[in-house]
Amino acid sequence: MATGLQFSLWVLLGLLLSLGIRPGAEGGKVLVVPMEGSHWLSMRKVVQELSARGYQAVVLAPELSLHVKEADFFTLKTFAISYTQEEYDQLVLGQSYKGFEKMHFLKIFFESIAMLKNVAMLFEKSCAELLHNKELIRSLNASSFDVVLTDPIYPCGSLLAEYLSIPAVYFLRFIPCDLDFVGTQCPNPSSYIPRMLTRNSDHMTFLQRVKNMLYPLTLKYICDYSLSPYASLASEILQREMSLADVLSYASVWLFRGDFVMDYPRPIMPNMVFIGGINCAHRKPLSQVCMGAVTQSGFQVDTMF
Ligand SMILES: *[C@@H]1O[C@H](CO)[C@@H](O)[C@H](O)[C@H]1NC(C)=O
Repeated sequence: MATGLQFSLWVLLGLLLSLGIRPGAEGGKVLVVPMEGSHWLSMRKVVQELSARGYQAVVLAPELSLHVKEADFFTLKTFAISYTQEEYDQLVLGQSYKGFEKMHFLKIFFESIAMLKNVAMLFEKSCAELLHNKELIRSLNASSFDVVLTDPIYPCGSLLAEYLSIPAVYFLRFIPCDLDFVGTQCPNPSSYIPRMLTRNSDHMTFLQRVKNMLYPLTLKYICDYSLSPYASLASEILQREMSLADVLSYASVWLFRGDFVMDYPRPIMPNMVFIGGINCAHRKPLSQVCMGAVTQSGFQVDTMF
C-alpha cells in the first residue's frame, strides 16, 4: 500500500542527496518556507520524514499562522508581522465561509477576486517584513542551510533562497497561470494542454481551442495582481531588475504532487519530478461506487493529491 509513498520519498531523498545533503547522524539542514493552509499540511508529512531520516528542519513562518504550529520533528522559527490576529482571521477565515452562502455567480466571482487580492496583499506584506528583518536574515545566513524547501505559490521562499544563495526545491500540486511553464521555460502548446476550468481534454475541436486560449486571460489578471509585487520586492532585495519568472526560475528542482494517471499529457522539463501520491499515507482502495462515478464523469482531478 505504501510503496508509492516510499518511492516518492526516495525520489525526494535522492534529490536532496544530489544537492549535497548528507543523511545520517550529522544530517543536512533544510530550511522550509511553507505556504499557509492546506499547502502546509501536504508539506508537513515530508518534513516529518526528512526529520526521521536524520535531517534537521527549520520551518519559517509568520508569528500568526493558521496551521503552521510547533511539532517535535522540526524547529519552528517565527518572524514578526505588522497585522493583527483580528485582521488575519477576518481576511483568511471570514471569507472562506462565504463559499457556503447562496449568492449570485457574479457576486461570488467579484467577492472571490477581492478576497484573493486581500489575502495576496497580506502574504506579500509578510514576505517584505521577513526579508527586511535584518536580524533574522543574519541568523538564517549564519545557519548555513543546505537547501530551501518551499511552495512556489508563496514566491517568498524562492526569493529568500536566492537572497541567501541556497539551492531551492519546490514542492507543489500545481501553480496557476502556467507559472511552472514560465519558471522552467517549458514549451506550453495550448492546442493540446487543457487549461484550468475549461473542462477541455487534450483532444479539442477548433472552438474548444479558442476557449482554451481565452480562459487563461482572466486568471492571468488575478495572478498578475497577486504575484507581481514579488517582482518589485525581488528587484529591491537583490538589487537588480527581476521579473516573477526570474524569481520562480531559481529552483533547482520542481517536485509535482501529480501523476499522469490523473493528469493529461504535457511537456515537462528535466528538473520537473512527479511524486504524485506522496500524501496518500493512509490509502484505501476506492469503493466500486466511487470508481464508477470517476470513470463515468471523465472527472478531471485537480485537487486529489
Ligand atoms: C551571508 O553571509 C555572507 C558571508 O558572510 C555574506 O557575504 C553575504 O552577503 C550574506 N548574505 C546576506 C543576504 O546577508
